[in-house]
Amino acid sequence: MNFQAVLLSYFALACVVLSEQCSKEYPFQYYLGTRTPYRLVSNSTFNKIKYEDCKANKAWIVVRHGTRNPSTSNIENIQKQLPKIQELILDNKNFPNDVVKNRDLDLFRKWKSKLDMKDETKLTHEGEEEMLLLAERMQNRFPDVFDDVYSNTTYKFKYTHSQRTKKSAFYFAAGLFGKHTAKDVSFPEPLKNDPILRFYKLCKKWRNEIKSNEKVNGEYIKFTNGPYTTNMVKDFNQRLKLNKELNFFDIYTMYVACGFETAWNKQSKSPWCSLFTKEDLLILEYLEDLKYYWIDGYGHELTYKQACPAIGDMINHLNSSEQFPKVVAYFTHSGTLLKLLAHLGLYKDTEPLTADNFHKMNDRKWKTSLIDSFGTNLAFITFNCNNGHKILALHQENIVRLPPCADTDLCDFNYFMDYYSGSIESCDFNTMCDNTST
Ligand SMILES: *[C@@H]1O[C@H](CO)[C@@H](O)[C@H](O)[C@H]1NC(C)=O
Ligand SMILES: *[C@@H]1O[C@H](CO)[C@@H](O)[C@H](O)[C@H]1NC(C)=O
Ligand SMILES: *[C@@H]1O[C@H](CO)[C@@H](O)[C@H](O)[C@H]1NC(C)=O
Repeated sequence: MNFQAVLLSYFALACVVLSEQCSKEYPFQYYLGTRTPYRLVSNSTFNKIKYEDCKANKAWIVVRHGTRNPSTSNIENIQKQLPKIQELILDNKNFPNDVVKNRDLDLFRKWKSKLDMKDETKLTHEGEEEMLLLAERMQNRFPDVFDDVYSNTTYKFKYTHSQRTKKSAFYFAAGLFGKHTAKDVSFPEPLKNDPILRFYKLCKKWRNEIKSNEKVNGEYIKFTNGPYTTNMVKDFNQRLKLNKELNFFDIYTMYVACGFETAWNKQSKSPWCSLFTKEDLLILEYLEDLKYYWIDGYGHELTYKQACPAIGDMINHLNSSEQFPKVVAYFTHSGTLLKLLAHLGLYKDTEPLTADNFHKMNDRKWKTSLIDSFGTNLAFITFNCNNGHKILALHQENIVRLPPCADTDLCDFNYFMDYYSGSIESCDFNTMCDNTST
């Protein structure tokens, strides 16, 4: 079974165990797209990873910040739309019924947005814990690489210009060395547009021709206005029979709130999640996957090709004959992780995701709920073995096999290098991004 199949069967099992969270016979928390908390997809075992006659020697890890607060526009939408819908639900005389049960009504009565604009996109408590635990497990897996005593020569940390990545780096360091020592860790001053951590901010052609174009003309927009989504909205209204019709935007805002509130709270259920059927969630999740496929994934070659400076950084670090630093750890964003995954050839479907092939792509590999949760991370560990230099790749702490080594976990380093070195040698970032033209 591959990593995704293992996860999916695990989800089905988790649902039986957490019966409260699964009141609708399906685990809604596994369809939350990029708002999925890391605890639902991570590999939470932490025994040492050993290979005979091998010793782990270096690591390069890139991490999406942990669970955060919504952006200002999402806070605004949640605070403007949801109290009105809450009122419609509480005023409705049909409830409780099969659609909105008594315990859901209780949750709706108690629901109140506690968000403050000044906390927009900040790392939350769940996000801190995600980073602490990730670091602890990596250290347990590879104790020869992730030393528990801090030294600025052994470790190189870096984060982007944002509170959520800065705090993520701090809590990761706290997981390795303890909170007290983490305060003394040296982090370089973050750059506004970091050429390795957020290369796409510097790619003019990608920003102008892909990002902004997909936002207004893309498959995502087509799917939003297409029959699947339109029917989903219609069915939703027929099922709830509120005194006022809800539109797509209302439903989407509830989905966003369901995602964030699930990520923040392990114990309690968000009432907004209780309104969705499995069919609704499959459509809402596909919307997310479409958006990211065309903006940050396989949709356009330039999108993932431009990740070559970051891949080059990884190869330079791991190929260097210098003993230090042993660990390079970067804290960044979803946009970086997805482009890296696509550059490496992971989670590639045989067909592109489009507004028309929703059903056909039901078993797709490109599922943001699994591959782009909060705290998503990609790690490379090198080993010195009796029979040569090897490399292991982990995504969400699960061992993944890359195209050059499809039949083995531990990949021959030279093989790996040969396969990806082409993208490093042809990495003319400014030309591919049209940065030189005016
Ligand atoms: C590491 O720390 C030492 C001692 O505090 C300092 O002199 C040195 O400049 C630091 N090196 C780096 C790369 O930050
Ligand atoms: C890897 O390191 C070797 C030896 O230092 C060097 O000859 C080679 O050019 C390096 N390869 C890359 C892609 O950096
Ligand atoms: C999860 O991590 C453990 C080591 O801590 C490892 O042995 C196991 O292979 C990992 N699981 C997957 C699916 O990669």
